[in-house]
Amino acid sequence: MLDEDWQEVAKLIHHSTNSWYLANGKNIIFKGPESDTLLFCEVYEDLDRGCCLIAECKETGKIAGSCFYHPRKTHVSLGIMNVSPDFFGQGIAGSLLKRIIGIAEDQSLPVRLVSSAQNLDSFSLYSRQGFAPTQAFQDMYLEVPKEGLDIELFSELRVANAHMEDVEDMAELEKNLCGIERKKDFQYFIENKKGIWKTVLCRNDQGQLLGFLSSVDHQACRMIGPGVAEDEKVAVSMLADQLENFRGKTPVFLLPVTAKLAVQSAYSWGARNCEIHFSQCNGDYQPPKGVVMPTFMPETS
Ligand SMILES: CC(C)(COP(=O)(O)OP(=O)(O)OC[C@H]1O[C@@H](n2cnc3c(N)ncnc32)[C@H](O)[C@@H]1OP(=O)(O)O)[C@@H](O)C(=O)NCCC(=O)NCCS
Repeated sequence: MLDEDWQEVAKLIHHSTNSWYLANGKNIIFKGPESDTLLFCEVYEDLDRGCCLIAECKETGKIAGSCFYHPRKTHVSLGIMNVSPDFFGQGIAGSLLKRIIGIAEDQSLPVRLVSSAQNLDSFSLYSRQGFAPTQAFQDMYLEVPKEGLDIELFSELRVANAHMEDVEDMAELEKNLCGIERKKDFQYFIENKKGIWKTVLCRNDQGQLLGFLSSVDHQACRMIGPGVAEDEKVAVSMLADQLENFRGKTPVFLLPVTAKLAVQSAYSWGARNCEIHFSQCNGDYQPPKGVVMPTFMPETS
């Protein structure tokens, strides 16, 4: 993708995603104008310049498919994948995926991604090329009242805003819990040049980092994540803190289906399920310890 392709790719992300959901009897994902999805190009190019492949129709010059990817020290993450509905089922997504797997293989790295369990087209796309689900997550949304949720927190845990000097600890914690490293993502969130990110963390009385959780608040994507936590109490405390930031709004967050305390807490605050996602990997994978909360901005698993 070149800079001059951004508008067309943003339009493709908007149209392809909404068309798929409509055709499959579900609610559209992007409710605002096509310009909203420019956010993907902006954030992904800020993070990983030049890491988006497009498939162009030789006859018309039209962009038929696009896929972003995020190379990191420990893995390559697959970003948002879209094919234009006029080109569905012609092997375009499969070709883009093959290229990105090749890029990862050249560096002996696994590819990681998050994909919908309700979208058999994307599940099959990844399964055919050797990916297997590693964890299941429930996507939950919560309409946060204007006056806030008034959640009672665990008194022994303190949640505070993250600062640049916390990044090393955050990267180390994620390496320990999940075996992946992506310091530059955390630096990007905390630097927050766009004014849409917020990152909180939780330390114990000895100052040891127990978890962190970011969020993005933009009309194209209102999500809480990515984050990791040593245990569910820490995850619940950080989630409650993040939700206060979304008063009068409806953020989405992903919780491991096995995180019973976190899931039940979210239900008790009024959250509802909207989808199920799988994290997937095609190579070396360390089963995570603690609680993992992925997001789609940027896609993480
Ligand atoms: C999901 C999506 C990207 C697929 O794009 P596509 O170009 O139509 O996919 P492809 O034609 O490359 O097909 C992918 C593979 O799935 C296979 N496949 C599709 N349905 C299948 C099924 N029910 N069982 C088994 N395999 C199936 C195809 O045969 C193909 O494998 P092959 O190339 O080895 O034959 C496209 O539907 C899309 O953009 N959807 C909207 C956005 C979206 O959902 N993105 C994914 C987010 S994770």
